[in-house]
Amino acid sequence: MSHQLKIPWVIKYRPRKVEDVINQEEAKSKVLEWLKKWPNVTKKALLFYGPPGCGKTSLVEAISNEFGYELLEMNASDFRRKEDIERVAVRASTMQSLFASGKKKLILLDEVDGVANKEDVGGLEAIEHLVKVTKVPIIMTANNPWDQKLRILRDIAEFVQFRKLEKRDLMKLLHRICNAENLHCDEDALDYIVSRAEGDARAAINDLQAVGEGFGEVTLERAKAILRPRDKERDPFETLKLLFSSRYAWQARNALSQSQLDYEQLKLWLEENIPHQYTDMEDVLRAYEALSKSDIYLGRIVKSGDWDLLVYAMDLMTVGVALAAINNPRDKDKWTKYTFPQRISIMSKLKEVRSVREDLATILAKHLHTSASTAKSDVLPILKAMFVSNPEYAAKLAIGLGLSEKMIEILAGTNKQAILDYYRKVEELLEKKASEALAGTKKLKQEMKKEKPETEKGKEKKNTKDLFSFTKKSG
Ligand SMILES: Nc1ncnc2c1ncn2[C@@H]1O[C@H](COP(=O)(O)OP(=O)(O)OP(=O)(O)O)[C@@H](O)[C@H]1O
Ligand SMILES: [Mg+2]
Repeated sequence: MSHQLKIPWVIKYRPRKVEDVINQEEAKSKVLEWLKKWPNVTKKALLFYGPPGCGKTSLVEAISNEFGYELLEMNASDFRRKEDIERVAVRASTMQSLFASGKKKLILLDEVDGVANKEDVGGLEAIEHLVKVTKVPIIMTANNPWDQKLRILRDIAEFVQFRKLEKRDLMKLLHRICNAENLHCDEDALDYIVSRAEGDARAAINDLQAVGEGFGEVTLERAKAILRPRDKERDPFETLKLLFSSRYAWQARNALSQSQLDYEQLKLWLEENIPHQYTDMEDVLRAYEALSKSDIYLGRIVKSGDWDLLVYAMDLMTVGVALAAINNPRDKDKWTKYTFPQRISIMSKLKEVRSVREDLATILAKHLHTSASTAKSDVLPILKAMFVSNPEYAAKLAIGLGLSEKMIEILAGTNKQAILDYYRKVEELLEKKASEALAGTKKLKQEMKKEKPETEKGKEKKNTKDLFSFTKKSG
């Protein structure tokens, strides 16, 4: 076997057909019947609920794959803004009627229990509205739909229960994979892996890959040595520590494969913590660059369904970030107090932050002659690193770009004050010049007023250009 990286097995062995989804027979026949009758159904949406890793999302994907539906997919994190959902609704319902020959469509609202947050009432209302107007079948998934705040879902959707997978289901699944991978597996090793998984197929498959990939066999001894004895997975803090301290690519990959975090979550944790771990400016930028490129790949995967890219996306996020500390490699082992991603911990602020982020992206896009989404994915992370590590430069940039205090806060986090202090100094200077000018002749006044901001602006333009060429160059 070569050293070439392989795709995660949870992706590689995703059920492609309905019959590949193990032991959810009742759910399967319910869905298929409902789809056949649609739109002559009592409820235009279904809600799949059940424990993690039992096949909810997989079944929706298998159905769309097998029966030729185009899947319009949204994750809970997208539901926060009512407009987002409405955009999907409008798109789905209009496109369906426009192109009679086009593919049938199916809307997947994944992990809707994520909107249980009080601040997200708008999201729930939008879902309700979407179900009301939809011309396309909607399937939602959730682990726990019984939260009082989610009561409305019971009115608008028919609930379909998914069962926790049994030990023998998981054994069957692992055997299948072992065969396909040409892996020799000891029964007691599989048994060990399965008992730890507690019905979660995702956990079981990840563990199997961690133990078996590249070794050609799975033994109990290896399983015990490699897998963590008690917890199923590493928590976010352990994950970060392991990832940052990695010296080899495989160590960095391992950090993710045995983590509680999925790659979307890991992205948020890294975005937040890179500047805590790394101190050298260039190292920080290198890490952010890997992260934002990985983000671009992930975006393409979602759009195109081309999972081959995932390998690169994951590598950029793990290996790319771990090996970014070139100037100051000692940082890798530095004790670091990691913080929760702001986007996760400050839920109530999220909505506001989101729209400020949009505004910020629009400003950047205009200055850099690029799209707002590129500004968001490519430029914001790098800018964030700069704002954290170089307040003086950040202040100049903020003035040059005309950023608001809120925007500065988003970019700088706790470092905001340092930037604002410097910002005020420059502002005062400009004001002083202006009032001096007022005392002089009208002509002089105008010149002064024009001149100062102009030169500042000119400088900043150059700086943003540099910033841009940095992103471009290595892009
Ligand atoms: N019933 C099943 N049959 C076959 N494979 C399964 C089944 N359930 C899960 N898997 C495997 O586990 C992985 C995760 O499953 P899936 O994404 O469907 O979980 P889920 O039920 O949506 O969990 P979550 O609630 O965490 O989103 C899939 O990639 C698939 O390989
Ligand atoms: Mg799921």
